[in-house]
Amino acid sequence: MTTKRWNMNDIDKNQSYIKEAAGILQAGQTVAFPTETVYGLGADATNPQAVSKIFQAKGRPEDNPLIAHVATKEQLQRLVTSIPGYVDKLIAAFSPGPLTFILPSNGICASNVTAGLDTIGVRIPNHPVALQLLKEVDIPIAAPSANISGKPSPTTADHVFNDLEGRIAGLVDGGPTGVGLESTVIDCTQEIPVILRPGGVTKENLESVIGHVLVDPGIIDGEGKPKSPGMKYKHYAPEVPLWIFEGDSNGFQELIEKEQQSNHRVGVLCSNQFAVQLSHDNIYQLGDSMEEIASSLYDGLRYFKQQAVDVIICESFPESGIGQAIMNRLRKASDSTIT
Ligand code: TXA
Ligand code: MG
Repeated sequence: MTTKRWNMNDIDKNQSYIKEAAGILQAGQTVAFPTETVYGLGADATNPQAVSKIFQAKGRPEDNPLIAHVATKEQLQRLVTSIPGYVDKLIAAFSPGPLTFILPSNGICASNVTAGLDTIGVRIPNHPVALQLLKEVDIPIAAPSANISGKPSPTTADHVFNDLEGRIAGLVDGGPTGVGLESTVIDCTQEIPVILRPGGVTKENLESVIGHVLVDPGIIDGEGKPKSPGMKYKHYAPEVPLWIFEGDSNGFQELIEKEQQSNHRVGVLCSNQFAVQLSHDNIYQLGDSMEEIASSLYDGLRYFKQQAVDVIICESFPESGIGQAIMNRLRKASDSTIT
């Protein structure tokens, strides 16, 4: 199949592009589109045949449920049987935004969206293109990240195209995404909500609005069975080994040199502050702030996939705020942590 690509920079044509993309979604085909976190690969969540095209295009295991995307709280309410009071507060504070609510499903979405679970993940993305598209289609859109399963999530339209050209009907190019890491997934079926996947809205953000929030232990120690089915897969992985280095720049430099002595070509992912302290010729600088680092992390992982390196070594980051999500994704992509 030929993948049609619409460039949303073309302001005059925006409206007609959105209409065209919406028409393709309504006809049961797949369309990738930007959100504030990563690009999503969308299909009509009420149409099981359309949803199965997502799994085919990505090569995604079918026991991994998808998030339904909607434009408004009213549309969200149409997909679930009940909404606890604390979710109303979270919606008021963070939606549209990078927060996915797991709620009891009323069965309106196809059973392959929820992988047969009686709950559904729903979110209102905070991106003008996503919101326009969702308003135009007026149906819930199931959308996982628009990458081949197991690869880093896409933060640019080119990332999507590299992975899925010829496998999907359309791609709305809205430029690079902002947050760069996927939404926070929060289980709202319990009295106290549980973070199943750390993401754009941090634990601290959530607690400032509703008080105590739990974290699924499967996320923290990588042991046990994570409640979010997707969290058990090795994810976001570049094709060469990725090591996380915990220590100062002297230790980092020593490790680089040790690898080089073994004739290993080393790619380094680190903050700008760290980069100036290293002497190495193959460094991808992730940025200054933790927000910049989150936003460029997946591009960095993809960058080294195209480079002739034998190992990628990444700096370790503090696990507060967005740092939790950064380290969660890095650990899932990595083979070992070097201390
Ligand atoms: O930011 C995002 O969330 C992006 C954009 C496109 O919205 N989407 C995304 O989707 O990251 P995906 O499919 O790559 O990740 C969805 C995560 C998976 O870990 C999945 O297991 C979990 O959400 N999930 C979905 N429905 C669930 C449910 N009913 N119960 C528990 N976990 C669920
Ligand atoms: Mg994904």
